[in-house]
Amino acid sequence: MKYAVLSDIHSNYEALDVVLRKVDEIGVDGYAFCGDLIGYGPDPEECCQRLMKLKNLIAVMGNHDMSLFREDFFNWFSDYAKQSMLYTAKQLSQKSQEFIKTFAKEYHGKDFSMVHGSFLDPFRDYLLTAEQFVLNLDKWKGNLCFVGHSHVPFIMSYKSNHMPQIDLFLGSDVTLKLLPGIRYMINPGSIGQPRDTNEKASFGIFDSKEQTFRLIRLPYDIKAVQDKIESRGLPTILSTRLKQGK
Ligand SMILES: [Fe+2]
Repeated sequence: MKYAVLSDIHSNYEALDVVLRKVDEIGVDGYAFCGDLIGYGPDPEECCQRLMKLKNLIAVMGNHDMSLFREDFFNWFSDYAKQSMLYTAKQLSQKSQEFIKTFAKEYHGKDFSMVHGSFLDPFRDYLLTAEQFVLNLDKWKGNLCFVGHSHVPFIMSYKSNHMPQIDLFLGSDVTLKLLPGIRYMINPGSIGQPRDTNEKASFGIFDSKEQTFRLIRLPYDIKAVQDKIESRGLPTILSTRLKQGK
């Protein structure tokens, strides 16, 4: 099976559109979504409608998705995140809200596991260190797990009795061969709001037969998204950070 691995779309339709067009060109059998479909960006309903149409979608819920239904998650946000979620709630149809409700808390399948933050705290934990990786090791089985939340594309690899290694994905198109006997936790980066100082949309292609993971970065029309953010009265920081990639 070949999967498109998507994360942190954050209502950025222009970025999502560019990514899904590229995925169509490549050709996949299914989609793995690591959470945070909504929040921050101007087009939550359009992004929901697009994701709903994907065949063989496996999706886990992000903290922004969860904040639609849980006040304690909403209260945890910064002022600008709260403002964007109030806007988002007004935009979303009942059908889209029901669709987001179907996202799982975590996923454990034959080819991979998946969670938004970490298995210790699926919605709040930013998995960024080797120590966190070790604490999560017995919470999932198999050799591969996808995570999101930090908006930084990276790969953590672990061989028994060794310290985990953390590598950032550098470059616009990088393919890694996943080796037997090694366990991997991969963040495909963010489609709608990258935070690794690279403004290009980030996503991955996982081939379970070949055991390869390909990380791809794509430019999209940032100006069009910024104009929508401004014209719809969303906080300016949500516009400026898109260009800065942080
Ligand atoms: Fe996010």
